[in-house]
Amino acid sequence: MCGIVGILGQGPVADLLVDSLKRLEYRGYDSAGVATLEGEHIERRRAEGKLRNLEARLKDAPLQGRVGIGHTRWATHGKPTENNAHPHATERVAVVHNGIIENFRELRQQLESTGAQFTSDTDTEVVAHLVNSYLEQGQSPEQAVRLSLPQLRGAFALAFLFTGHDDLMIGARKGSPLAIGYGDSEMYLGSDAIALAPFTDTISYLEDGDWVVLTRTGAVIRNADGEVVKRETLKSGASSFVVDKANFRHFMAKEIHEQPEVVGHTLARYIDMATERAVLPAELPFDFRDIQRVSITACGTANYAGHVAKYWFERFARLPVEIDVASEFRYREAPLCRGDLAIVISQSGETADTLAALRYAKEQGLHTLSVVNVPTSTIARESEVVMPTLAGPEIGVASTKAFTCQLMVLAALAVAAGRARGELSEADETKLVHGLIEVPRLMSAALATEPQIERLARDIAKRQDVLYLGRGTSYPLALEGALKLKEISYIHAEGYAAGELKHGPIALIDENMPVVVIAPFDRVFEKTVSNMQEVAARGGNIILMTDAKGAAEASVEALVNIVLPDMPSAFTPIVYAIPVQLLAYHTAVVMGTDVDQPRNLAKSVTVE
Ligand code: F6R
Repeated sequence: MCGIVGILGQGPVADLLVDSLKRLEYRGYDSAGVATLEGEHIERRRAEGKLRNLEARLKDAPLQGRVGIGHTRWATHGKPTENNAHPHATERVAVVHNGIIENFRELRQQLESTGAQFTSDTDTEVVAHLVNSYLEQGQSPEQAVRLSLPQLRGAFALAFLFTGHDDLMIGARKGSPLAIGYGDSEMYLGSDAIALAPFTDTISYLEDGDWVVLTRTGAVIRNADGEVVKRETLKSGASSFVVDKANFRHFMAKEIHEQPEVVGHTLARYIDMATERAVLPAELPFDFRDIQRVSITACGTANYAGHVAKYWFERFARLPVEIDVASEFRYREAPLCRGDLAIVISQSGETADTLAALRYAKEQGLHTLSVVNVPTSTIARESEVVMPTLAGPEIGVASTKAFTCQLMVLAALAVAAGRARGELSEADETKLVHGLIEVPRLMSAALATEPQIERLARDIAKRQDVLYLGRGTSYPLALEGALKLKEISYIHAEGYAAGELKHGPIALIDENMPVVVIAPFDRVFEKTVSNMQEVAARGGNIILMTDAKGAAEASVEALVNIVLPDMPSAFTPIVYAIPVQLLAYHTAVVMGTDVDQPRNLAKSVTVE
């Protein structure tokens, strides 16, 4: 993963690099560093841990250089120590890298055998030594990079700085995203437009295999064959303001509370309020009547959104859906039928496995549709149809508002598909659309459960394991609940289809095991109650998330009933996501973990 930035500026750039890195922290936050050209030589400042440590380092030993590169790291090769922090450098060149160099071992052996001295455990350091080896032979920086790139296997976005070249920076992209920013006699490189937003809104994206030579007056882009190419210049919509927490203690809390609003915006984009119809994207390059099967791929929380959507597509549009985690799908060589539809879902739009899944589907001749939160992302740019979620920037590493906005987009799409295929009548569609229109209001009402959940979290924080159960569309939400709790509170949790309980997990139930049951009063409610009976009979502590009718009919003693508003059963996961998220959030707060930047995680996963 990792975030990279480079600036060819008019004045000292170190502080600007750090400002930009703050916007890239979502890509990793275990160490950071910058390098600038100080007179004739490269100087680095690096620090383990959060960016404030790097800032302190720079305060003690400031840098003045007008050209520099910076990096915020999510460790893949080598522990998150200062030594392994980027930039990696020799006397002649410094480099920052996002991605993985897969053949770094052989390259390292080769370079060490000719005298290169390595000082880190990273894959990236081979890039510095490889380029250095050509510089030593008298090649120019451009030539050295050009000769090195074809030798690197894997995925990378790279930015280079060269000793003795105050007006030069080189960038390269294969697999990992890299944007060029055009300023006024200043030039920039960055992992995304957000990183560059404080400096410029004029951006172009390198395509796979491209590399670029920047001077303060412009950029020359070449493709993998060395031909000079033009890449479209866009006006980026990324805001230069760093998003703040408002009055909330954490971004995650703010983002949970924003959901009624942002889900409402997303709804307004995909539902025509005047006609009460779900709106398909304009110029859809296929007809839903011709689609035989939908293939959905995504990772993590986005995958669970896809899992919910499977139920919706199958029910409303009678369309068979296959759902896969992208990391499995991409290597499974799944047989797909040309002309069918592949849907990929991603908050960041940069997740490496999801991008690979999209490309595989494209190669197989499928139509591709992405549901993304970053409309300038690689996944958005490479998909045939983009349906953006209007969640706004999501900063908390644990996804919350992006998830519910993904659900809203997918619900509207499934309804529109059902109508287009003639599976839903106009009256059915109207009824479902009315249900969706109610969702933002119901989400606001669901937020009223927060004080109760806060109290419950004090108990959950003492537990070692938690089970989440659900049936139908509540099953993927059970998976999501367990994921959320694990990632921010570090408590072990598992999500199960309620009916699966008796096939193994029931062995875990005793009086120490809280079991969160997500069970709105719907057509499978009675079945879930039977599963709750099984838990109760073994002394398990039930936390029941349901509505008033469910609470009245449950006939099982629950430790806690979290009662949500009554609503049409089709779209309950969008509303029930709120207590599920709040429970994870408050448990993490009680435990004192780093809620917005939990250990070992990063917001955007651009490595496989
Ligand atoms: C969990 C979480 C992750 C992401 C996953 C995919 O809270 O945020 O599981 O959902 O890494 O990321 P995107 O949606 O950016 O592709």
